[in-house]
Amino acid sequence: MLKNIDTQIIMTPDADSISRAAETVKNGGLVVFPTETVYGLGANGLDGNAVKKIYAAKGRPSDNPLILHLASPEQAERYCYTNDIYYELAKRFMPGPLTVILKKKDCIGDEVTAGLDTVAVRVPSNDIAHRLLALADIPIAAPSANLSGRPSPTRVEHVIEDMNGRVDVILNGDECLYGVESTIVKIDDDALILLRPGAVTIEDLKTVSSSVIIGGSVFEQYNGIAEAPGMKYRHYAPKARVIILDASDEAFIDYVNSRPDAGVICFDEDTDNIECKKVISVGEKDNSEEQARALFSALREFDSFDEIAVIYARMPSRDGIGLAVYNRLIKAAGFAVIKI
Ligand code: TXA
Ligand code: MG
Repeated sequence: MLKNIDTQIIMTPDADSISRAAETVKNGGLVVFPTETVYGLGANGLDGNAVKKIYAAKGRPSDNPLILHLASPEQAERYCYTNDIYYELAKRFMPGPLTVILKKKDCIGDEVTAGLDTVAVRVPSNDIAHRLLALADIPIAAPSANLSGRPSPTRVEHVIEDMNGRVDVILNGDECLYGVESTIVKIDDDALILLRPGAVTIEDLKTVSSSVIIGGSVFEQYNGIAEAPGMKYRHYAPKARVIILDASDEAFIDYVNSRPDAGVICFDEDTDNIECKKVISVGEKDNSEEQARALFSALREFDSFDEIAVIYARMPSRDGIGLAVYNRLIKAAGFAVIKI
């Protein structure tokens, strides 16, 4: 696609610019906005032609459905069939980093759902996102605002890199609070099926349902039945090959130091002991929140080092939001893990 749009980049969104962005998105334009997870590339979810522009701007396969962003949990009534568990989830986690899959109503077109009879809904807590949604008073269909296959953007510089010239407006919201995309759940009677891990953790979900089932693509490679179609694609990948090392502190350091030309993604505690070409820490070993916030930035940063062909990343903890860090990293690595 040609990058021929004169993109307006709003570095300090105020009431006036958010209101103009709301008009733009209502009238069929593309607006990138910050959320508490990652930046979203938004279009009017009730306008099929506007939604098609999202796929073109990202280079995204059209069999991968989009999330509808709403100003309040109750707005879901307009677009899908809700139930008691939905409202239990809403009471605990909305607004916030949770997406729920529900049966769709007829007003939502195939461009949003990629032909499925369900639709994903989420109510972001980020203030700019919320004001945009409230003023536009439409559901905003939005994937992460990266070019398809690249790491999701968590800072406005990432958005400008990928989307300048492809969208009408970019609203800056500084660094995203969580840094990994929302938790996605599907409701199956009284059970919750976790399709994508995020900042709303398994422990959090268990406060709403005693039956939380981990979907197949959370730990493993796509096997033909990924419940969230997006989980089957190669994702988040920098240009270099990523390999995860499942190793003790000492074994990790010895392994990478014998490969001085490699790139390394590690923890703060490791950096002083590593002598490789480019070393990026994603935070303290025991701080999964910090690792979540830093991971996509780290993966992107390696793309400016053409001479690095392989990146070794330390296996993160899978507790809490750590499961989301692990899930994104194994996807970036194409499931390449070496156990030492
Ligand atoms: O945090 C987030 O969720 C961000 C921000 C912008 O809100 N959005 C985001 O969107 O991550 P995207 O398009 O990059 O990922 C949406 C995921 C995809 O894996 C897609 O397959 C899945 O949600 N999805 C969407 N609708 C679905 C449905 N009806 N059934 C199952 N999975 C669905
Ligand atoms: Mg995405």
